[in-house]
Amino acid sequence: MNQDNTAPPATWSEDILWALEVTDDAVLLLDGEGRVTHANAATRALAGHVQPGAIPAHLLTLLPDDAWTAARTQGRWAGEVTALSGVVVAIVLHCGDRDGVVRSFITFDDVSARSARQVELQQRHDELQRTYQRLAGTQEQLLQSEKMASIGQLAAGVAHEINNPIGYVHSNLGTLQEYIGGLFAMIEGFEAAMQSDDPIAHRDDVQAKRERLDIDFIIGDLPKLLEESREGIERVTKIVQDLKDFSHVGRDEAMRPSDLHRGLESTLNIVWNDLKYKVRLEKHYGELPLVECHQSEINQVLMNLLINAGQAIEERGSITIATGAENGEAWISIADSGSGIAPDALQRIFEPFYTTKPIGRGTGLGLAIAYSIIAKHHGRIEVTSTPGAGSGFRVVLPVVQPGVGGGVVGVDQLA
Ligand SMILES: Nc1ncnc2c1ncn2[C@@H]1O[C@H](COP(=O)(O)OP(=O)(O)OP(=O)(O)O)[C@@H](O)[C@H]1O
Ligand SMILES: [Mg+2]
Repeated sequence: MNQDNTAPPATWSEDILWALEVTDDAVLLLDGEGRVTHANAATRALAGHVQPGAIPAHLLTLLPDDAWTAARTQGRWAGEVTALSGVVVAIVLHCGDRDGVVRSFITFDDVSARSARQVELQQRHDELQRTYQRLAGTQEQLLQSEKMASIGQLAAGVAHEINNPIGYVHSNLGTLQEYIGGLFAMIEGFEAAMQSDDPIAHRDDVQAKRERLDIDFIIGDLPKLLEESREGIERVTKIVQDLKDFSHVGRDEAMRPSDLHRGLESTLNIVWNDLKYKVRLEKHYGELPLVECHQSEINQVLMNLLINAGQAIEERGSITIATGAENGEAWISIADSGSGIAPDALQRIFEPFYTTKPIGRGTGLGLAIAYSIIAKHHGRIEVTSTPGAGSGFRVVLPVVQPGVGGGVVGVDQLA
């Protein structure tokens, strides 16, 4: 008995023909001139499917001209073609030399369904891509409008912060005008004395005038007034700059190594007016390296945390800001002595629109947006809170952003 199957059985060619006939694969056998010598049942069915009434030999017209050249030189050509009827057929053409006689055979596979699925998948993919881009755009807009809304909320306070220095610069200018009037009058007194025949004789007059015009006081006060006015103007310039930094849209910009302490100070400048009457501020700044981030977005996070801390304090309390860096991460913590957060609420504070504040006071977006900004920076926000005693929020950011595909978003490690 032939067990190793190396030699074909006597009925070999009949067996092959039988197998060809029953298989679902469409196979066409050809002679040396490329004429069809055998077409199996699947090929006959496919020919009729590709074009009603067509015979298997018609399938050869589907082959592009270069298919034969390629198959003769390389032994094989494979490709996918779409018939006029729309049927998509995957074709493999084999050419070989057997006993000096060139033979070929072709397999056909109707892949219309797969191809349609691919087209559909591609369409869905494109659609998803478009939706994703729209969503990213909407999120950017949401971020921007939340930022603007916060600034809007703070506008009255910021206006006050600007008005205050402007007010005293204005009043200082009035005083300076008076002083200059006095100084001019004094100069005139000197001039009159100098132009007289005997200036020495005017010495007492000049001295009396000097006392009447309070020149010594003017000389002492004038530099102080100027210095104070300069500081006032610088303060306004700073607040306007901070506002500009805030309203800045950082979309599509690369993250830059940034000074988080500077960001903190700018943010405090903007929210300070809301806090200063009830909050004692404590700062424990550590050493911070420059941290790769979108500074204006991180400022937005800090602003939301500071506003929340202020709003959690009813009458009087403290906010403690601490910073530090270790193990390639920088952190900023903002702790308040306010109302604290109940354990069941703690699970929900990062949900969009979750708020415990009255309508008009809170939209519940502050922390949701802070969360998404920090997630984008591959960082995390940790919270601890004791109801009745206060809360602490800690923002942790990698000093250097992980490369594409690197790093882990640790935002779900919320306390
Ligand atoms: N420091 C905090 N102390 C006590 N509760 C807080 C503190 N920070 C946040 N919360 C709670 O989390 C909720 C959600 O905060 P979030 O900043 O997202 O929204 P909001 O402050 O209510 O409104 P918005 O920030 O949109 O003006 C708050 O309503 C509050 O109940
Ligand atoms: Mg808030």
